[in-house]
Formats: sequence, C-alpha cells, structure tokens
Amino acid sequence: MSSVIDAIEAKKRGGKLPDALIAAVVEGYTSGDVPDYQMAALLMAIRLVGLDYDETVALTRTMADSGPRYSFPDCVDKHSTGGVGDKVTLCALPVVAACGVPVAKLSGRGLGITGGTIDKLEAIPGFGVALTEAQFRRQVEEVGFALGEAGELAPADKAIYALRDTTGTVDSMPLIGSSIVSKKVATGAGHLIYDVKAGSGAFMQTLDDARELAQLLVKLSEALGINARAIITDMDTALGAAVGNALEVRESVAFLRGETVPGDLDEVCRDVAAELLELRGIDDPRARVDAAIADGSAYAKLEDVVRAQGGDVEALGDLPVAEVAAEVTAPRAGVVGALDALGIARASLALGAGRQKKGDALDFGAGVVQLVRPGDTVEAGQPVVRLHGSRGVAEAVGHAEGALTLTDEAVAPRPHVLERL
Ligand code: URA
Repeated sequence: MSSVIDAIEAKKRGGKLPDALIAAVVEGYTSGDVPDYQMAALLMAIRLVGLDYDETVALTRTMADSGPRYSFPDCVDKHSTGGVGDKVTLCALPVVAACGVPVAKLSGRGLGITGGTIDKLEAIPGFGVALTEAQFRRQVEEVGFALGEAGELAPADKAIYALRDTTGTVDSMPLIGSSIVSKKVATGAGHLIYDVKAGSGAFMQTLDDARELAQLLVKLSEALGINARAIITDMDTALGAAVGNALEVRESVAFLRGETVPGDLDEVCRDVAAELLELRGIDDPRARVDAAIADGSAYAKLEDVVRAQGGDVEALGDLPVAEVAAEVTAPRAGVVGALDALGIARASLALGAGRQKKGDALDFGAGVVQLVRPGDTVEAGQPVVRLHGSRGVAEAVGHAEGALTLTDEAVAPRPHVLERL
C-alpha cells in the first residue's frame, strides 16, 4: 500500500500517524506523486479525527523543511492571524528596529476580508516586496529591518493550504497551527510574537478558540526552537480608523510620527513592540517604545526600509487615497453599540480594497474610514463611516449601514488586548 493510503486508513480509524509516514505523505504531495483526491481524503480524516500534539509537531517540521530555511536567530518577527484594519506590522516593527533589535519579516497578500501587509506596502509607489534571500539578509544586516513577500518558503504548506481552501478542511486547529508555524520556522527569526485576533472580523470568532490557537502556536514554536509569546486582541471592531491599503499606510505613518490615532491602535501597537523588546531581553521596553516614537527614530526607520526597497519616501508621508464616494450617517441619535468588523471588511472589499478571489486587481486608494467607535454618542444624521473608492459603492454602503448598531444604553469600554500568553 502507498504511504498516503496507509495514512488515510490509520487516521479514519482514529490511529496515530508516525513521523516518517507524515513526512512521506507531505513529500509525496509536494512532489506531485500523491494526487489531490488522496491528500483531500487524508485532510478530511484529519479534520474529523484530529492530530495529537506529536503528530502536529511532525507535520509542522516537515512542512517547514519542504523548501529553503532561513536563519535569523537574533531577529524578531510577528504574526497576526488576520484582521480588519490590521496595520500592526507597519506600526510596531519600525519601532522595534529603531530600538536596535533587528527585524526579519516575511508577509503575505490579503484574500477575502483579511488584508495583507504586502498589499499595504505595494500602495507605496516603487516599493519592492520580492527580495531574494541574499537581498533580505543584507537589508536585515544593513538597515536592521527587511519586509519581503513569503514566496518560496514552506512550499508544502502552500500546496496543502490551497487544497484545504477548496475541500472544507481549513477549520482544523492542528492544520491551522502547523500551517502558520511552518512558515515562521522557515523564516527563521529566533523571537516571535503571535497576535491572535478574536471576534467577528477574525478567523477565530470566540475568545476560547483564539486562546486554543494561541496556546498551540506558542507550544509548537517553542518545540521547533522559537522563543515565542502570544497576545489575543479584539477584532469585533476593526483596528484603528482606517481600512484599506493607502489609508492604512497613512494611519501607520501618523502613529509612527507620534500623531493622535485611535486608542485601540495605539495600545495594541505599543504593546506588540514592547513585548518583542522584552522577548529579546531589553530593559524597560515600554519606555523605549515611547521614546522611539517621540524622538522620530521609529518613523525614520520606516523611511529607511522604504528607501532600501525602492519605495518613494517623499510619497510615503502623504499617499493619495480615492475620492470620497459616500458617507454613512446615524439614522437616529444614540450610542454606538457596535461597528461590526465583518461588515466594515465587506464594505472595504466591495470598494476594491481587498480581493474577492486570488489575482483580483486592488484599488490601493479605496477603503473605509470609521469616524466613530463603540461607546461614542452620535446625533441623528452624523457621519459614522466614510467610504473611499469608485467600485461597488452601493454594496459598500449597505454593508457599512448594516455594521452599525445603535443603543440607548451606555456602552462600557472594552479592552483591546484581551489576553497575554
Ligand atoms: N493562515 C495560515 O497561514 N494557515 C491556515 O491554515 C490558516 C490561516
């Protein structure tokens, strides 16, 4: 019997897959010897029966080893499980690098409601995301910070994730954990923080699921040699005011220049930066973060990265955004009970700021600006959301209107960082 049939038979009966069998199947699928239909059957058996921790470690290691593995033991990295308006990489990592801690970060593109850092970077004219390993390494050494597209790493994960996406097998904790950690292991940074989002605009909708994933990510990372931590942050409301590529870069620039930004964005970004400094053993990390923003070195570091990767530093400070297409207003006076992240994400997607399907062309200037936050009091007719763009405006208005819940009760402020692990 072939390895993959052995694995399907064992897993469907609840058996444990030996490390060597996992490696043989993953290698066979990546090389094309195992066909999609057999791999899909195995993935569904795993989705239904599960993998224990040892099997999950073996799968993670095999996928990490399926392509080149970089090594940046002194560097830090961060990973977000994906959210709406999530610009934490652009805000927090320049701060960390400005504090003298090198950053090696590979990112992806957005799909569906989740934005991707690579798309945000491409909103900066000239910014190049395709770095060879040599270019990436040189920039980490010379600038202390490089941000590239995670193209060639962990090819087995890439192939398996694409198959999961079309076979109803994405929503499996061990498959999600091994997929994420395999890419981090292949990137090779020695210190890592996971920002696991919980809420309507996140992959993990409940705090319990987010906690389970966060625990698994940290445990798997530690098992594979990464010094890791996780925080769980709120994603019932989009982070900050801006959702959309150029809009988010503008808001990140404002944060790094020490200008006033929404409190949730400020808190989460300063927290992530401080956690990363602490992971590297830096004393008084919070004060170091505040100082790097106040003295301009954090913004200067972003400029250095943009310059090093061919981007237009002059344009960075004032990226063009699309015309205002519509403003959604409050239908009555009241208190904002919710501005649902999922509805805002769908509005942004309809305007062309995100991709409905792989390969869709983005409108970098399109997106949504949230003018109010949960807990704010509004008058009837007061603008609550501003929409930028020219595509799908009517649909976007519908989503944004549906995202708003008004109440007559006071709304207690919610924490933005929900838990730390
Ligand atoms: N993100 C990943 O990289 N992998 C998954 O399986 C899910 C989300």
